[in-house]
Order: sequence, then C-alpha cells, then structure tokens
Amino acid sequence: MTDSTVVTVTHEGDIAWVEIDNPPVNATSTAVREGLAAAVQQVQGARIAILICAGRTFVAGGDMSEFDRAPEEPHLPDVVQMIEDSETPFIAAMHGNVLGGGFEIAMGCAWRIAAPGTRFGLPEVNVGLVPGAGGTQRAPRLIGMKAAIDMACSGKILFAEQLLDLGGVDQIAQGDLKEVARAFAQNLPERPEKVRDRTVAALPLEEYAATEAALKIRAKGQQSPILNLEALQWAALPFEQGQPVERTLHLKLRHSIESRALRYAFFAERAVSKPKLIDGVEPRPLNQIAIVGGGLMGAGIAMACLSGGLSVTLIERDATAAHAARSRVDGLIDGGVKRGKFSPDQHADMMERLATTDRYADAADADLAIEAVFEDLGVKRDVFRQLSTVMGPDAILATNTSYLDPTLIFEGIPNLTRCLGLHFFSPAHVMKLLEIVKTPDTDPQVIATGFALGKRLRKVSVLSGICDGFIGNRMLAAYRREAEYLLADGALPYQVDAAMREAGLPMGPFELQDLTGLQIAWANRKRQATTRDPNERYERIADTLCEMDRLGQRSGKGWYRYEKGSRTPIRDAEVEKLIVAYSKNNGLTRHIFTAEEISDRLLNVLADEGQQIVNEGIAERAEDVDVVKLFGYGFPRWRGGPMFLASSKQEKAA
Ligand code: NAI
Repeated sequence: MTDSTVVTVTHEGDIAWVEIDNPPVNATSTAVREGLAAAVQQVQGARIAILICAGRTFVAGGDMSEFDRAPEEPHLPDVVQMIEDSETPFIAAMHGNVLGGGFEIAMGCAWRIAAPGTRFGLPEVNVGLVPGAGGTQRAPRLIGMKAAIDMACSGKILFAEQLLDLGGVDQIAQGDLKEVARAFAQNLPERPEKVRDRTVAALPLEEYAATEAALKIRAKGQQSPILNLEALQWAALPFEQGQPVERTLHLKLRHSIESRALRYAFFAERAVSKPKLIDGVEPRPLNQIAIVGGGLMGAGIAMACLSGGLSVTLIERDATAAHAARSRVDGLIDGGVKRGKFSPDQHADMMERLATTDRYADAADADLAIEAVFEDLGVKRDVFRQLSTVMGPDAILATNTSYLDPTLIFEGIPNLTRCLGLHFFSPAHVMKLLEIVKTPDTDPQVIATGFALGKRLRKVSVLSGICDGFIGNRMLAAYRREAEYLLADGALPYQVDAAMREAGLPMGPFELQDLTGLQIAWANRKRQATTRDPNERYERIADTLCEMDRLGQRSGKGWYRYEKGSRTPIRDAEVEKLIVAYSKNNGLTRHIFTAEEISDRLLNVLADEGQQIVNEGIAERAEDVDVVKLFGYGFPRWRGGPMFLASSKQEKAA
C-alpha cells in the first residue's frame, strides 16, 4: 500500500490495482497527482497495473478550485507521461464520467476498458480552456481528428460504445468492471504503441478554414473553441512539439477573462440554487400540481411538470377552453416525441397524468397550484379566491405574473405564508430560468419547496424579491429604455442590434422586441405612467410605433418590416425617418456611435440596474442577477453576466 490517502496500490498476485478514491468525482487534485506519481513507482515489478476509481465515477476532470492558483507539482502532463512510459503497462478500467484530465490519464494507459454507457469528454472548452495534459495531442491520435474536434472544440460527450467503434476503447465491460478487468489482464494482447507515438494527419487547409468558420459562428465571440482547434492541428507534428504548445495555451487561458467568466458562471449556477434564506430548510413533498390557465404559459408549465414526473390538473375557463388546453399540451409533448426527447410510451404516460377540467373543485387534492391566467389583477385575485376555498389551508399558491405585485394578487387569501411567485419564462417547457418570488409573508419552507420543484423540472431557480418586473424583466426594461435613448441620441435600430450581436448576445434589443411583440411592454409603460418620476428621461419612440400598430413580427412590422411569411428583419425607412425626426423635434443632437460605444452603454446600464437590484435586497447577490441574464435572456456565458463583466472591466482598468 502507498501512504497516499486518495490513491492506493494493492498487489494481487502479478496484478497491481491502483485505485483513486477522491470524492465526489475523483478530480485530479494535487493529492491525486502525487498519489498517481507514487503509484507508478509502486507498481513496477508487477506484470500489469489496473487503474480503477472508487465511487460513482472515474476521474471526471480537474479541481476547478485550483485553477486560480499557480499549478503545483507534479503536473498532470508529467503524470500521464509516467503512466504511458511505465515498464508495467496500465489498463484503465472506467465507469461513470471520464472527463478532461480523466480522459487524458486514460489515454496514457496501454489499454482502456469501460462499463457500458461510460461518458467520455474533453469539456475544458466549456470553461474557456484547452486541455492541459495532452488531450488535444493524444485524442486525435487515438480516435481520429474529426471525433477529437467534436470533443475538444464543442465539448461533445461520446459514449464508451462510440469510442469502441473509434478504437479509443478496447472492450466494453459487461458485468462487474473489476472482474472484466481481471479477466482482460489474464489474457493480455500485445502491448500497443504508445498513443503519443502514433501519427495523425492535420486537417487539410480548406477543411480547417471551413471548420474554423463554422466554430466562429457558433462561438459568438468565445475564443476557446477556436484555440482548441488550433491546438489539435499541432497533433500532426511530433508530440514533443505539440504538447508544449497545448500546455502554454492552457496555462495562459487559465487567467483569461473568458475562462474566469465561464468558471464564475459554473459556480454561480450552483450558488444561486442554495439561497441563504432557505439554508437547512427541508422542502415539502410534491406530487399533484394544479395549473390554472392553459394558454401559452400554462401549457408549457404543465408539460414541464409532467416531464418532471408530476401529476397535473389543468383548469380552464370552460369545457371548450379546457379541451383546447389539453390539445396544446398534447401538441407540445408530441413535438418532444418528434425531436426524439420522449418515446410514444412516455407521451401516453404523461397524458395519463394530465387531467383537464373547468371545475376548481378538481384541484382539491393538489399540493401546489400555479396560476397562469390573463395578466389582470381582478382575474388573478378571483382565481386565488376560488383555489383557497377548495384546496387545503396549507396548499401552496403560486402566481406566474410577469409584472403585477404578488402581495396585491394574494390580498385577502387565508394563510399568506403559503403564497409565492413562480415566474417561468417563455416557452416554459424549454427555458431554463425560474424566478422564485418571495413576498414579505412567504414561509422559507414554501420557498424551499419552490426550489425543489425547480430542480425537479430541471430549471435554474433564482430567488427574487418584489419589484416591478422582478429581476429579469426589470433589467430588460432598463436595457430597452437605454436602447431607446440611443435611438434618440443618434443611433438606428439596426446599428444597436448589430452592436449587441457583436457583443455576444443572440439578438439585439429591437429584433427581440419585434419577435416577442411590443404590446406587453407598451401596456406596462402605460400602467407605470402615473407613478413615473417626471424628471426621469422618457422617450416615446416605441409608444409611437405601437400607436401606428407596428407591434412586431406578428403584425408584419415593428422596428423593422417583414416580408410575408418571413422572420428576417428588413430596415424600414419609415421608422428610421421617424427616429431622425423625433430627435430633431425634441431638440436632441444626433451623434455617431461606434459599435463598442453602443454595447458599452447598454452593458453598463444592465450592470448598474443589477447593482441597484442587489442594493435593494431584491437579489441576494450579483450571481443571482447574472444567472438570470444567462439563463433567461441568452447573455453569453463566456462573458459571465453583466455584473461579472463590469467588475472584470473595473479590475482591468485598475
Ligand atoms: P394566454 O392568454 O396565452 O393564456 C391565458 C389562459 O388563461 C387562457 O387560456 C385563458 O383561457 C385562461 N384563463 C383566463 N382566465 C381564466 C380563469 N379565470 N380561469 C381559468 N383559466 C383562465 O397568456 P400567457 O401568455 O400564457 O400568460 C399567462 C400569464 O403568464 C400572465 O400573467 C403573463 O403575464 C405570465 N407570463 C407570460 C409570459 C409570456 O411570455 N407570455 C412569460 C412569463 C409570464
């Protein structure tokens, strides 16, 4: 036995078992690297060494908490090389996830056997890195350039069965992994050539350029997919030349803003799911959900609940509307079947767990009700009044309102501690974000139950206090307002949209408004008119467009015009003239803005509004604001979120 606590060597006849036991995922921390380096010495003399991992997985990556520190010896590339050069050859016997450093270690072994369904990946690109221990140099030599590009540039996971076909795995272990490894060791084939000594051809230049161009489109400004491609191309040269290039790139990228942003996003996503407010609070069990309103949102929420294994009672206004709601949910699930997400049997099972009705009494046994009816205070109040008469006194009541104040919606309902907001994003069965809105009365256990529901529906849940639009829509309103100021100050919609796309967003603010429709925000501005600070700058270009019935794609025109049946925005001289005239009529001088000036102004506004939201205690911390933007509004993950971006810019300036 070695004296490492995380890597043990046990001799069994002429076999040396090397076991990594570093919960939760056997990450390649310093202790594991030290243990492996020592183990390579310990196994000398044995006929064969078998590397295996304890727990639920093989090595599933590096220890991200070490990435901000200077790398400590022994370095992983050296450890992999020791394994590869060991007189006693290694078999990697793998199960669970074989990711990043785990796959790099496996590629240093002479043979690889894996339990069925074992997942292989080089996901460094997802945290803005290239692999650092030969991943880009050995993978193309082992499984071919194309598969290596998929793994390293896109973070694609390949299964053991696929790797077997590609020659990356020698055997799928049917049955007990240890037994299969032992049997493999009894009957060893001839030791193959070391992976690093094999050869692979570089991508021909034309193919390289086409691959790079395709990656650039998908990466939307993110650098690491392209740098991974560059590193892979070096695999065509001798390993001693390619490996140092990969390592240098890896170490440089660890300190890049892109990698820090992606690591921040990774940890932020986990942090927001555990708000301080519900620390140690047990959620209530949930089985039966009632949903009132089976329109766009209600149907999507129902589908999300059904695919989360819950039973759903969907209540509509009358039998005809209930029937229509049922078909809507059926259509959504059917879409999932067509995309291969569900089997026909799952479809049937989900529909069996769905009851549609126009009687509130059918919600009597539900543990939680979600209201998704028209955005109208009177209608919503009436829904909760009816629900509270039929449901148990502790049954949880939730509203999906976008802008209304939940405390007003719940006014007069007995037991306000069970009331909260569950604000889904459209389409609710697709979008990952769920804002969990607490009122001053909401019991922490009710909030914890909201988070448990979010987890069951595979959402990323963020806690929000009450303010106009909660976190997400309030940020959006500030962003839209500033975008409109930019128009009044000299920009045109297409310039603003292009600048934001260049900044990594999937769409600019005006294209987005055309897509979702201008009327909701218009109604909201009209609602706010009486309480708006008269000293606040207010531009009424959007209002004018709405008055002209330019409500977006659905009305064929909005900020842009659309040809019949097309969703492609076309610049519209009528709108641009109107904007120029607006500035003139209001005495505003029109300036020429660069794309960077435009995106800086809009990104700064997002960060300022986010800070305000944190200062007011609406969000617990900056991470909550950033996660809302990442998962609800397509903010580029590689930029971390508006709050992270602003703080990293300040750091850079300092
Ligand atoms: P929708 O108009 O598509 O659906 C509303 C449904 O509620 C209709 O099917 C209607 O028949 C039903 N309904 C109305 N009164 C009812 C009552 N008294 N009892 C039972 N059913 C009743 O509206 P949508 O878009 O689904 O919005 C619903 C709610 O979700 C609104 O509060 C909205 O602000 C909110 N929301 C909407 C989002 C969106 O993007 N559309 C995003 C997030 C929240």
